[in-house]
Amino acid sequence: MGINSTLVINAKGGVGKTTITTNLASYFASRGVPTTIADYDPQSSSLNWLAQRSADLPTIHGADLAPRAGLALQNGRRQIPLSTRQLILDAPAGPSRLLLQDLMQRTQSVLIPVAPSAIDIHATANFIKELLLIGQVRFRHIRVAVIANRVRNARPVYEPLERFVSSLGIAFLTRISDSDVYVDAVEKGLGIFDLPPEQCAAELREFQPIVHWLTGEAPLETEGAPPVTSNVIQLNVARA
Ligand SMILES: Nc1ncnc2c1ncn2[C@@H]1O[C@H](COP(=O)(O)OP(=O)(O)OP(=O)(O)O)[C@@H](O)[C@H]1O
Ligand SMILES: [Mg+2]
Repeated sequence: MGINSTLVINAKGGVGKTTITTNLASYFASRGVPTTIADYDPQSSSLNWLAQRSADLPTIHGADLAPRAGLALQNGRRQIPLSTRQLILDAPAGPSRLLLQDLMQRTQSVLIPVAPSAIDIHATANFIKELLLIGQVRFRHIRVAVIANRVRNARPVYEPLERFVSSLGIAFLTRISDSDVYVDAVEKGLGIFDLPPEQCAAELREFQPIVHWLTGEAPLETEGAPPVTSNVIQLNVARA
């Protein structure tokens, strides 16, 4: 069995890269899958989250891959346990072209969280263009999906982005709500998959399309919640 690798990235800061990373890691770990987060951000937000995580919870490994002066990237690589089956790469905001190229060589799937502001959406559209070009996405058969994050209402603010990504054959997976559940969980080293389902039914539901797109696994049963995979807008993912 090989490693499945997912890169969570956007050139913009504060759009939810670490939030998606930690919650996705909590999903895999809750399923008993050997999971590692590779933190490429010198701010080490994912590793700080891991440091808060109780030893009683399903184990998630952390690897510090942040580029730092005097430390070759290669050093950090050894921190990824060989047993890892799901590797999640938490990228820093504003990655250099070199880092972007390096990250794209290490991943099969890319998740791009985007916040609901016109400025962020515009910046993300430009970033996606750069990613497709630099990452040789089609050539390498890398799958790319966009996630709307911190959505407060159903305003159609994402419509231009949805049209844009659909024109590129990229999936628009889900809308993650602006919820204190994510904020509270992150402070304690938890993900929504570590919480009692009745405390976060809506969050579990909205996260499922991400899990489904990455793994093909069926949604978890949540209390009285209808399955959400039908909401996934799976737009003819282009393959070269
Ligand atoms: N869906 C959400 N609901 C509520 N708060 C959120 C949500 N997503 C992210 N946040 C909060 O927004 C802030 C930024 O999120 P996060 O750290 O995940 O972004 P990031 O893209 O990793 O940022 P950076 O570029 O600094 O690495 C955090 O305080 C986080 O708790
Ligand atoms: Mg981050």
